[in-house]
Amino acid sequence: MSYLDFYGLKTEPFSNAPNERFYYNSAQHAKALTRMMYVAETMRGLAVVIGDIGTGKTTLARKMLDNLPVEAYESALLIILHSEISPEWLLQKIATQLGVERPAKERIQVIGQLYRRLLHLHEIGKKAVVLIDEAQMLNSKELMEEFRGLLNLEVTAHKLITFIFFGLPEIEENFNLDPPLLQRVSMKIRLSTLTEEATSAYIVHRLAVAGLRDPVFSDEAMKHIYKYSTGFPRKINILCDNALFQGFLMRERTIDMNIVEEMASDLGFRAEGMITPPETAVDLPTVDWVQESGGIESPAESDFRDVVMDQSDGVDESEDLEERFEEFFKDTFSDE
Ligand SMILES: Nc1ncnc2c1ncn2[C@@H]1O[C@H](COP(=O)(O)OP(=O)(O)O)[C@@H](O)[C@H]1O
Ligand SMILES: [Mg+2]
Repeated sequence: MSYLDFYGLKTEPFSNAPNERFYYNSAQHAKALTRMMYVAETMRGLAVVIGDIGTGKTTLARKMLDNLPVEAYESALLIILHSEISPEWLLQKIATQLGVERPAKERIQVIGQLYRRLLHLHEIGKKAVVLIDEAQMLNSKELMEEFRGLLNLEVTAHKLITFIFFGLPEIEENFNLDPPLLQRVSMKIRLSTLTEEATSAYIVHRLAVAGLRDPVFSDEAMKHIYKYSTGFPRKINILCDNALFQGFLMRERTIDMNIVEEMASDLGFRAEGMITPPETAVDLPTVDWVQESGGIESPAESDFRDVVMDQSDGVDESEDLEERFEEFFKDTFSDE
């Protein structure tokens, strides 16, 4: 048995693998998307999305790519894997992605091919938009100048290409390598962490997408998830995933704050900058489970109950955690 069966989930709710289905349109992600779409629509040249690790940049880049209709846009998503790339490699990649069939090896020739391709796209009324993830790795003057060159390509005062960079905060330093490029940044979008309310809504949303509508984390547990993840989606995922697994080992239907606290401590997540509210503080608004997860199909309630009851029948409360853990691993990883 896995925790999926135990909690009646159809699929892992907190996987860190990118998956469009789990996209949660938080206020800040929604705002970022709207602004990026505006940049693409109006061909504003260059926009930058800046955020720490795990704030949702890659998620947004993919979402943006999905949002650009193919009839109107020639779009591409380029991921920079290391900082040793050459201008030729970069230009060839961009050219290939935008439909240049056989990009030349020579820099000048690729630029020529790219220019002709961009003119053609412009003539047929399509906008060329290139999203660049991990753009903080573009940390050489040479590369920055290449972008500036491409952004200079125009026809009758129309820019021919738009770039959206997604990068860590240090990306700001890269722009200092080429101040004229910095001047071409038409929009900067900063992603911060999720608020406490958004964190709860995010958790509820992901659970609902995975097939579970009933609350599994207590309100206190939710507060602790926020406290220890400090609203970073990636950390929320890891913490929730660990807590669900631990809850399953302990055969706890509801995950309480102690489980969250224990997992946070195991993971080395520290509650930073968190001011613990005094005991007398007014309760924070609780999440409306049904409303927040609206629009997502969940399994029929009866299906869900059946799963839960079947599983709980077999639970032997005297079993200790170690044994369950071993049993779990045997079930999951043995070859037989
Ligand atoms: N808006 C969102 N909706 C759903 N999941 C998200 C969202 N933002 C981030 N995540 C999740 O958080 C994790 C980290 O996000 P990611 O986009 O990889 O961050 P970054 O690229 O900024 O490091 C991913 O597993 C992703 O699924
Ligand atoms: Mg990323």
